[in-house]
Amino acid sequence: MNQKHGEYKLPDRKQALKRTRDAVTASYDLFAVPQQASQLGVGKKYYLRTYGCQANVRDGETMAGMLEMMGFAPCDNEEEADLLLFNTCAVRKAAEDRVLGEIGSLKTLKRQYPSKLIALCGCMAQEEEIVDLLIRKYPQVDLVFGTHNLYRLPELLYRCMHGGERVIEVFSEEGKVVENLPVHRSHPSKGFVNIMYGCNKFCTYCIVPYTRGKERSRRKEDILKEVLSLQKEGRREAVLLGQNVNAYGRDLGMEDGFTDLLCDCADTGIERIRFYTSHPRDYSISTIEAMRRYPNIMKSLHLPVQSGSDEILRRMARGYTAGSYMKLYDEMKERIPEITFTTDLIVGFPGETDEQFQKTLDLVDYCKFDLAYTFIYSPRSGTPAASMPDDIPMEVKKERLQILNDRIADSALANNRRLEGKTVKVLCEGRSRKKEDVYSGYSEENKLVNFTGPDGLENQIVDVKVTGIHSFSLDGEAL
Ligand code: SAH
Ligand code: SF4
Ligand code: F3S
Repeated sequence: MNQKHGEYKLPDRKQALKRTRDAVTASYDLFAVPQQASQLGVGKKYYLRTYGCQANVRDGETMAGMLEMMGFAPCDNEEEADLLLFNTCAVRKAAEDRVLGEIGSLKTLKRQYPSKLIALCGCMAQEEEIVDLLIRKYPQVDLVFGTHNLYRLPELLYRCMHGGERVIEVFSEEGKVVENLPVHRSHPSKGFVNIMYGCNKFCTYCIVPYTRGKERSRRKEDILKEVLSLQKEGRREAVLLGQNVNAYGRDLGMEDGFTDLLCDCADTGIERIRFYTSHPRDYSISTIEAMRRYPNIMKSLHLPVQSGSDEILRRMARGYTAGSYMKLYDEMKERIPEITFTTDLIVGFPGETDEQFQKTLDLVDYCKFDLAYTFIYSPRSGTPAASMPDDIPMEVKKERLQILNDRIADSALANNRRLEGKTVKVLCEGRSRKKEDVYSGYSEENKLVNFTGPDGLENQIVDVKVTGIHSFSLDGEAL
């Protein structure tokens, strides 16, 4: 079988930052690919499994859009599908092992039905050693493509299906921002809008700057066009996405571009705006002011802190101290008393002592988060932290994780107590997955609310009386 290899080296840390952006924006045209590619999926089904963060979810929506333009119909199981796509995440080893396990077990299916195509894309595809492993040990995978050449999916599929080749194409350079890609959105009530791609922060533990490249902002007019299109389609919420949204526009020479963008998005009149993820180091007071001023910018902030120990934060290269994080937190609370906070935390970073972990607990006690995504440190090859000895025994890491999770659950429950009996405004996403007669959705404070009510509340903003509380959800009745 003919194998076509693109370059897939991890970009050198310093080089990646030095590279200047070649061209700003390109426009996508499905029909620039061989004419036959546009009909390739007629009568065929695809199954797409997405792992990882919202950036990956949004990429999955773009792939779904492209596939459906080619005639493919979605399906929800591997057996029925003619094309299986695994849109992967590389942020921790456990996530990678799961994907490798799943595609490993597809060997038999592929042997039984050789015409089924199996594709792996997303962040794992940007890792050189993973691509090598796939080439050597996973012959059942027909197509590998990365995060920078996602827009080439129709052409790559064409080569796979008609050339009979195993196609491996991963770009190590990020290239242009490609606009006008089709999209099949996964939520009826809200839409994800990328405002920028990549990350320049290079936190020492994190692989994202390598898998997603350096920061590239979309043009403001393209972002606003997408927000307006969400409104036209009847969606109520725009979720602005970037690994470090506060850096929006810097690569385009803007100063405080994020606040400016946020205000313009709010001025479109869409009912709700949220944004992920903010970086404590870059957060500006003007952004807090914008949040305060506009009722349609939701008063909840995801502000990853990672650790409460200054020494660990320094070795993570996060660029702030626990004290400066708490100062920012206080400032926001002072200006917007009702604001809620969520965060990300890592336990067991190399060399983390009991005292340093205690500092994390102290910070968590101070900030009383409403929710935290907590992780056991996972060494990622090619990152600076991977060469620090991963010296904390797994039992200790697990124990710290448990203690931390308990603390977060306690503070979240205490915060929710204040909402008991109150009325919250919930964007109803539809019937709950667990119980048919119950709706679920998110309140302005970003609380998951399960509630009862009459038929027809889907995609409405509903006043819900809180009748019961849990750590990470509320129960209620529509008024
Ligand atoms: N851009 C965001 C999130 C990126 S990844 C930010 O800067 O906050 C999401 C989370 O995964 C991170 O916040 C971090 O808590 C966690 N994470 C990243 N790399 C990790 C690693 N090697 N081990 C464990 N957790 C990690
Ligand atoms: Fe990773 Fe840090 Fe960038 Fe977030 S800011 S994506 S944690 S390098
Ligand atoms: Fe994972 Fe890539 Fe997102 S590594 S967290 S899917 S940017």
